[in-house]
Amino acid sequence: MTEKAVELKGVYKAFKTGFTMKKVEALNGVDLVINKGEVFGYLGPNGSGKTTTLKLIMGIIHLDKGEIKIMSKSPNDISIKEIIGFLPESPYFYDYLNAVEFLDFYARLFSIPKAIRRDKIRRLLKMVGLEKRAGESLRHFSRGMLQRIGIAQALINDPEIVFLDEPMSGLDPLGRAEVKEIIQGLKRDGKTVVFSSHILPDVEAIADRVGIIVNGKIRDVGDLDKLLSKRVSFVEVTVFGLDRDMLDPLKGKAKVKRILGDRIVLLVEGVENVDAVIDYIRFCEIGIESVEPIRMTLEELFLSETKGKSK
Ligand SMILES: Nc1ncnc2c1ncn2[C@@H]1O[C@H](COP(=O)(O)OP(=O)(O)OP(=O)(O)O)[C@@H](O)[C@H]1O
Ligand SMILES: [Mg+2]
Repeated sequence: MTEKAVELKGVYKAFKTGFTMKKVEALNGVDLVINKGEVFGYLGPNGSGKTTTLKLIMGIIHLDKGEIKIMSKSPNDISIKEIIGFLPESPYFYDYLNAVEFLDFYARLFSIPKAIRRDKIRRLLKMVGLEKRAGESLRHFSRGMLQRIGIAQALINDPEIVFLDEPMSGLDPLGRAEVKEIIQGLKRDGKTVVFSSHILPDVEAIADRVGIIVNGKIRDVGDLDKLLSKRVSFVEVTVFGLDRDMLDPLKGKAKVKRILGDRIVLLVEGVENVDAVIDYIRFCEIGIESVEPIRMTLEELFLSETKGKSK
């Protein structure tokens, strides 16, 4: 049986802001289970409640209603701090410290003995690819390097569960690939990794499961492929050797999306029309190069989920 690392039941959190103390509902009845040993991608547009959820699990802020369990304990249970690691969304770095001093500072917060600290720090710097920059001040670090030292910091206590809030934000493709590799390594080491993002391809490659949050409510949880494949809205059929005047019978079923030399890319509207379109092309003895379902992008998914529901 899969064991739960984190469980949220009916979690509600509102903030009062501004002069008028206007209430902002950040989470509005969130139910969520994150299993032990999985990489969980927490997806949602800006302001949807990702950071609020992570801070609540971390015990940094407190819920108004509902229940949160982390490793079957309350986030307020101090013993939990020893088994979790956290990379905040906008981490603050003491930039006059060098990489080793910075990690040593956090290691001491966890009372890790000196004899173990040195070795652990060396190992972590190697893991995040910064061993050659160990003695350099953080103020000389690039954004990607800071993100990696932040991840090393989150791992200093050898946590069972690692929470990374937007670990790939602001990174170039190489930096993102490096962070993805680190996350995959953590999974291989048996850790549970929870990370938030609003960039679909970053999540797609590495998450075992995803949760999609929109306007403080979980819209979907599960395997990302399954979530997105439920939403195939178009199918592209690329054919070669088709004359445009042969397309008339396809009216209402498919239209020309692009012409690439002797190839025509047809956009079939609705999965239910795919059979009819392909049958017709075969009947015309025309070659089919490819048939490709076009999944909604995450942005389109968010937009369709938020339609008429914006705050
Ligand atoms: N401390 C706070 N005081 C007032 N409102 C807050 C506070 N923290 C979050 N909010 C509000 O709660 C909602 C959810 O914010 P949250 O930071 O959790 O979103 P997010 O999904 O992490 O967004 P982003 O992708 O921009 O990081 C937003 O409307 C935000 O303005
Ligand atoms: Mg956030």
